[in-house]
Amino acid sequence: MMEVSRMNKKDTRKAVDAYFDDKLHISDETTQAILHKNEKEGLQSIEVASAHGKMLYLMAKMSGAKTILEIGTHGGYSTVWLARALPEDGRLATFEAKQRHARVAEENIAAAGFADRVEIFEGDATKTLRVLKKRGFETFDFIFIDANKDNYPEYLEWALELSRSGTVIVADNVVRKGRIIEEDTDKKNIPHLRKFIDLLSGDDRIEATAIQTVGDKGYDGFLMAMVK
Ligand code: DHB
Ligand code: MG
Repeated sequence: MMEVSRMNKKDTRKAVDAYFDDKLHISDETTQAILHKNEKEGLQSIEVASAHGKMLYLMAKMSGAKTILEIGTHGGYSTVWLARALPEDGRLATFEAKQRHARVAEENIAAAGFADRVEIFEGDATKTLRVLKKRGFETFDFIFIDANKDNYPEYLEWALELSRSGTVIVADNVVRKGRIIEEDTDKKNIPHLRKFIDLLSGDDRIEATAIQTVGDKGYDGFLMAMVK
């Protein structure tokens, strides 16, 4: 192994991800097969990093979640990590805008053995989230937001609507290579993500923090919050 001081930052981050992946037994056949299938089906490689998938699994398990809401299924990679945290009688509702992604996710979730615990809702989540109550979901123990960034403010409102005291809310992609701090940008997504942060900032129902991340997937970060 090359000395780290001789490596560039990007290679170092990849190597550190690989190190922990190996030592902490993070990836496995099931999750790797999902990544392969997603790639083969032409889905963008924007899934959470494996270490972050396991982090989501651990957080959901630590919170003792029996009901999980995911907004943004993509190919079902984070869905399967989260579903693994559920007890046998747990339920996960996941929302996906694109029909093709939902179909790939359905296959991945079934192959991972979670078809009985996971329900995929297809279509624009800002329109479809309202069906949850009719489907017997009241509140959720754990909520993961990782969909269209422009709708994060609306997803936060829904997350709060579907929360109880103690619900954990996690959101992906709140740093965007640091661009989150650009006040007057009209760059893709950033104004909406900033509005999402401002809503949290002004809401005393919730306690939150943000964690910057680096690694194989570049520089981004997670928002983590809990409803008081
Ligand atoms: C991108 C990354 C994400 O994690 C996501 O949810 C959406 C887009 C991206 O890098 O383009
Ligand atoms: Mg994401």
